[in-house]
Amino acid sequence: MRRNLIAGNWKMNTDIQSTGNLIKSIKELIGNQELKSEILVCPPFTNLQIAVSESEGSSIKVGGQNCDFHTSGAYTGEISIDMLKSVGCSYVIIGHSERRTYYYETDETVNFKLKAALSGGITPIICIGETIEERNAGKTYDILERQIRGAYNDLSEDDLASVVIAYEPVWAIGTGVSATTEQAGDAHSKIRKFILDNYGHKPASIRILYGGSMNDKNSGELLALEDVDGGLIGGASLKAEAFYSIIKSSEENS
Ligand code: PGA
Repeated sequence: MRRNLIAGNWKMNTDIQSTGNLIKSIKELIGNQELKSEILVCPPFTNLQIAVSESEGSSIKVGGQNCDFHTSGAYTGEISIDMLKSVGCSYVIIGHSERRTYYYETDETVNFKLKAALSGGITPIICIGETIEERNAGKTYDILERQIRGAYNDLSEDDLASVVIAYEPVWAIGTGVSATTEQAGDAHSKIRKFILDNYGHKPASIRILYGGSMNDKNSGELLALEDVDGGLIGGASLKAEAFYSIIKSSEENS
């Protein structure tokens, strides 16, 4: 049984006060329900501490949006896995397409970060996805496979059994146009099959999240898909009501 993960990627939004308020509102909406889904929020680094303290006593977990792969030292501006752990994070997003596009992250740096997260005991959420040009050129699965191979390089079956993948078609991120259920269903089942064929059963039993304009309107049909085990949500995770609606869709599909 794969437990759905509903993860909010807040990107470079919110400050300390609005982080506290947003978490309070999500907490209120959840109330004292025992959720079948796992709930995660990933605010900017400067707001992690308030996020952790506000979510205490609730089922909301907190994660980082990025990390460095070095453990410590002269790496100005970077944040290590140990730092994320010490503030109370249990997850980290790795290789988001915005990191790959604007900050030149590669499959190799994604692999280094994945290794750092796994050895530091933080669950990595690895983002993969094709651009519209790649999709139109019929290269979607070549790209996804290259990204998985790159990220998974030199890791054991046991290591790979504890990762989370987020399939995020780049053309769907922040555009208001999500993948159709057919596109998402196809991509998720092909990703799982590729992992099964190349890395084995345990790694193929991981959770594969969908990301890219998931919202309170389309979450029901996306989360109902067999191989979709949750969502990585940007814009809609910044509104407590919309995020909670997605949580409810996940509960209905768990
Ligand atoms: P979006 O972002 O939901 O705003 O499209 C998703 C993501 O980038 O993780």
